[in-house]
Amino acid sequence: MNREDFEILNQEEKLIYFDNSATTLKPNQVVESIVDYYTKYTANAHRGDYDNSLKVDMAYEEVREKVQKLIHNKKAKEIIFTSGATASLNMVVFGFMKYQLKEGDEVLITKAEHASNILPWVTLAKEIGIIIRYIPLENHIVTIENVKNAITPNTKVISLAQVTNVLGDERPIEEIGKLCKENEIYFVVDGSQSVPHIPVDVERLGIDFLAFSAHKMLGPTGVGVLYGKEELLERLEPTSLGGGMNATFDSEGGIEYKSLPSRLEAGTPNIAGVIGLGRAIDYLLEVGIEKIHKHELELKKYATQQLEQIPNIILYNKDMPNGMIAFNIDGVFSQDTAVYLNHYHICVRAGNHCAKILKEDLQVKNTCRISFYLYNTKEEIDELVRVLKNSEEIFKVVL
Ligand SMILES: Cc1ncc(COP(=O)(O)O)c(C=O)c1O
Repeated sequence: MNREDFEILNQEEKLIYFDNSATTLKPNQVVESIVDYYTKYTANAHRGDYDNSLKVDMAYEEVREKVQKLIHNKKAKEIIFTSGATASLNMVVFGFMKYQLKEGDEVLITKAEHASNILPWVTLAKEIGIIIRYIPLENHIVTIENVKNAITPNTKVISLAQVTNVLGDERPIEEIGKLCKENEIYFVVDGSQSVPHIPVDVERLGIDFLAFSAHKMLGPTGVGVLYGKEELLERLEPTSLGGGMNATFDSEGGIEYKSLPSRLEAGTPNIAGVIGLGRAIDYLLEVGIEKIHKHELELKKYATQQLEQIPNIILYNKDMPNGMIAFNIDGVFSQDTAVYLNHYHICVRAGNHCAKILKEDLQVKNTCRISFYLYNTKEEIDELVRVLKNSEEIFKVVL
């Protein structure tokens, strides 16, 4: 789908890019929107009184409305631009939870979370004595029963990826959102692997905070989003202070912050990145997120049917409805498989995928991950299968 828009796919040397959960390729339209900013109307945002500066302000602020269209929240000021999902999650933990939680309060996460949704909590636990509890996984997935059973009177937060980044399982977010509301629990959702692939409606799903990155959805690196309900963002202490976020300050130490969203965007923002994110959202909505997801599911089905026929391939998530395949070749270190595939210009990710404690559940430390996006094709899968069928060649290539 739309391969002509991706210059990287139209070069002489063929490239089969199956590492979309790590980052996606960028369409020319996104690159052009960034080049336009740098070549036609460069200026800082929210600081100038000349034409280009006002044009930048408009372009930058318009992107909040584009994000709104994507995640269906109510107000533009509930969208905060950050440097990525990691920064967004850190802001929630160290700008909000640090001041709302107290010793003994419990935070529910799982062993399948990305480091960005574990390490900030672990650090906060050391700082203020909150307790981290892991919702038990059943066949690697989160069930609503297990969430219910894990909730205690001390549970104050549930923080989960909507879709995980190794096995790609989708959590029952709407039901968990309802449980959170009934039990007065803050619901934090890591949307890094969901927002680029499935329709997300934060209001319907009952999400309090949502974090995601532009680069996993056709946008540039170094920019992301923190969505938060207005009344919660009002209570989020800035974790970064400086220009752009203060209304005034004096030599006595008095500081008055600006209102949302500026209060939480200190310093010169990644203007080019935000503009690129806006163009990426336009692009995704023009193609249609549902259509993209359907395409990914078709590719997964097609690939799984063929990979299953190869005797020494182990598939870890074949029945999960998503565009990811976690696999190993029996007896081969996953990184060797990735190096072998690279020999044929096939890009996959190998390792623990920043979900370092998932191994306690999966019983496997490292896997290879194939992850599809709109531009991937069945022909590319045919090539992958052809190469994997010859995997007795692997050590000739790798060593
Ligand atoms: C589920 C999940 N959460 C968080 C992140 C962190 O995203 P970033 O590195 O863009 O901040 C990733 C990136 O791989 C991810 O897959």
